[in-house]
Amino acid sequence: MTKGEVLISEEEIAKRVKELGEQITGDYKGKSILLVGILKGSTPFLADLMRRIDLDVEIDFMIVSSYGGGTSTSGDVKILKDLECDIKGRDVLIVEDIIDSGVTLNALTKLLRKREPASLKVVSMLDKPSRRQVDFYPDYCGFEVEDKFIVGYGLDFDQKYRQLPYISWLKQE
Ligand code: IMP
Ligand code: MG
Repeated sequence: MTKGEVLISEEEIAKRVKELGEQITGDYKGKSILLVGILKGSTPFLADLMRRIDLDVEIDFMIVSSYGGGTSTSGDVKILKDLECDIKGRDVLIVEDIIDSGVTLNALTKLLRKREPASLKVVSMLDKPSRRQVDFYPDYCGFEVEDKFIVGYGLDFDQKYRQLPYISWLKQE
């Protein structure tokens, strides 16, 4: 496998992240928000997005792994690293890199709702709606992408290519 051409450039990413930041700032006016980054893929997006949100912002992180895949859409999620803070009564915005089957975020949002946040929304840099297995859609989305294996700007293949400043895809050779 080699990385393909630039799918979404650095300039396009920066422009879209700024727009998302402005939209979020407007929607949460007067509130403070807790951004929950899903490690590891969301790190560049979270770092860029938080600097475009003009509100009181705190950040926390989770590592999750879904048992989904195959034909199972039951969506149990395994927490490998939990939040440090209590989200009860907080306005929580989950920051994700990409939504594919939707299994992970569907399960994670169900689990976090039980902790009684004041609100819980999801912002995903990318969305691959054609791959959906469960009825889950992000509240905010950077770009919709086709059914290609995406790398760069946090997204990896076998832990590689996360550091690419643009969004690319892998070509089978
Ligand atoms: P889902 O539960 O199928 O929505 O899984 C989403 C997770 O799978 C994302 O958070 C990514 O970590 C990973 N993933 C899904 N599609 C891609 C891709 O095209 N490139 C890299 N990682 C991906
Ligand atoms: Mg992920």
